[in-house]
Amino acid sequence: MPSSDSTPPGETLPDLAAIRAAFPALVQDTVFLENAGGSQIPGVVADRIHAYLRSTYVQLGADYALSKYCTQLVEDAHSFARTYMGGDGRGEVVLGPSSSQLCRTLADAYADTIQPGDEIVVAECGHEANIAPWLRLERFGATIRWWRVDPETGASPLANLRAVLSERTRVIAYTHVSNLLGEIIDVAAVSALAREVGAHTVVDGVAFAPHRTLDVDAWDCDWYVYSIYKVFGPHMAALFGRHEAFEGLTGPNHFFVPADELPYKFELGGVSHESCAGLLALRDYLTFLTGHKACTRDTVVAAGARWEALEAPLQARLLAWLAAKPGVRLVGPGPGGAPRVPTVSFCRDGQSSRAISLEAEHRDVAIRHGHMYAHRLCTALDIPPEDGVVRVSAVHYNTPDEIERLIEILDPAL
Ligand SMILES: Cc1ncc(COP(=O)(O)O)c(C=O)c1O
Repeated sequence: MPSSDSTPPGETLPDLAAIRAAFPALVQDTVFLENAGGSQIPGVVADRIHAYLRSTYVQLGADYALSKYCTQLVEDAHSFARTYMGGDGRGEVVLGPSSSQLCRTLADAYADTIQPGDEIVVAECGHEANIAPWLRLERFGATIRWWRVDPETGASPLANLRAVLSERTRVIAYTHVSNLLGEIIDVAAVSALAREVGAHTVVDGVAFAPHRTLDVDAWDCDWYVYSIYKVFGPHMAALFGRHEAFEGLTGPNHFFVPADELPYKFELGGVSHESCAGLLALRDYLTFLTGHKACTRDTVVAAGARWEALEAPLQARLLAWLAAKPGVRLVGPGPGGAPRVPTVSFCRDGQSSRAISLEAEHRDVAIRHGHMYAHRLCTALDIPPEDGVVRVSAVHYNTPDEIERLIEILDPAL
C-alpha cells in the first residue's frame, strides 16, 4: 500500500454523524444492533463492487489489459488483507466465501497429516464453525480434548486449557471472542502455551475483528480467521496462516497447482473478484475515518482505536442497564469485568428470549435471540439453545440514542 501520514495537526476527525453518513443503509429508520450477525457497508465499498461488475468483470490470468487489471486487483486484495491482519512478512492470507468454509478447508488439510495419538483441543465457547471441522478429525484417528468453560460465567480459564494440553496436542482451535459472551480471550497467552507443547493455534477472530485492530504478528498465532462481511466489507472471509504453519499441509486445489503456490492452493475455485474490489475500497473508508492521506498499517491501527473509543460508551450503558435489572442474567462479563466487546447477551428468569427479542424486532430495532451457533456454549451454561439468549451487538457507527431507544422498548418487558 502507498505510504501515509497520520492526521495533520489541527485536522479534525469525522464525527459520528459524518461516519454514519458514509453508510448508505443507516439513513433508514431501522436501528442496526445485530452487527455481530453482519455489519453494514460504507457506500464506497458498495460503489466499487458495482463499478467492478459493470466494467471489469472478466477472468484472471489472461494477457489482455482488463484481465491483467483484475489479476492485479485480486492480488492487491490479498496483500491488503495481510497488512490489515498484521501479517506482513509472517505469512499469507487465504480468501474465501466465509469463515466456516475456511475453517473446514483448513481442518481437512490437517486431516491428511493426522497420526495415531494426535490430539486436537477444541474450545467449548466457540462458534460451531471452528468446532465441527475439528471434531471430524476423530474419524482420521485424532483424539478430541475440550477446553471447557466455567458453567456459571462462560469464561474460558487458561487453567482449563493447560489441563488438556500435552506433547500430543497438534492443534488448539478456539475463539478470540465468543459471539455470545463478548469476552476477549488472551490470544498471545494461548500462543505461548501452544508453543510450549509444539501445537498450532487456529483462532476464530470473527467476533473480535469488527471492534479492534488485528495483529497476528504480535499475537504469534499460527492461523487466524475472520469474516470480512462483519467488518464493513463484502461477503467474504480471510484466513491468515504463518509461513511455518502452511508447511506440511496441502491445500485442496487441483493436482497441477503446486503445493507451494500460496494462497491459491487453498482457494479451490478461486475467490469472488468483485468482493476483492469491495475489500480494497475499505481502505478509503479507513483513511476517511482516521484522517490519514492513504491507507497503511498505521491507518488500520488508528481505525481500530477509533472503533474502540466510539463503542465504549455504548457498551458501558448497555452493561450498566442490564446489570441493574433484577432477574436478568448477563451472559458474559459485566461492568468492570473482564475485557470485552459490545456484543452483549442476556436472558431473563421465567421469560423467553424470543419474546423479549420480538419486542424490539417488531419495532424496527434489529437484535436477535437464539444460540447464534454457539450451541455447545448454551448447553454448558444451562441455557436451552433453541430459545437461547437475547443478543444486542453494537459497532462504532451505532449511537447512544439508538441504545436509549432499545432500552426504552425493552425496559418494561424486563
Ligand atoms: C464467532 C464466529 N465464528 C464464526 C462464524 C462463522 O462465520 P461465517 O458466517 O463467515 O462462516 C461466526 C458467524 O456468525 C461467528 O460469529
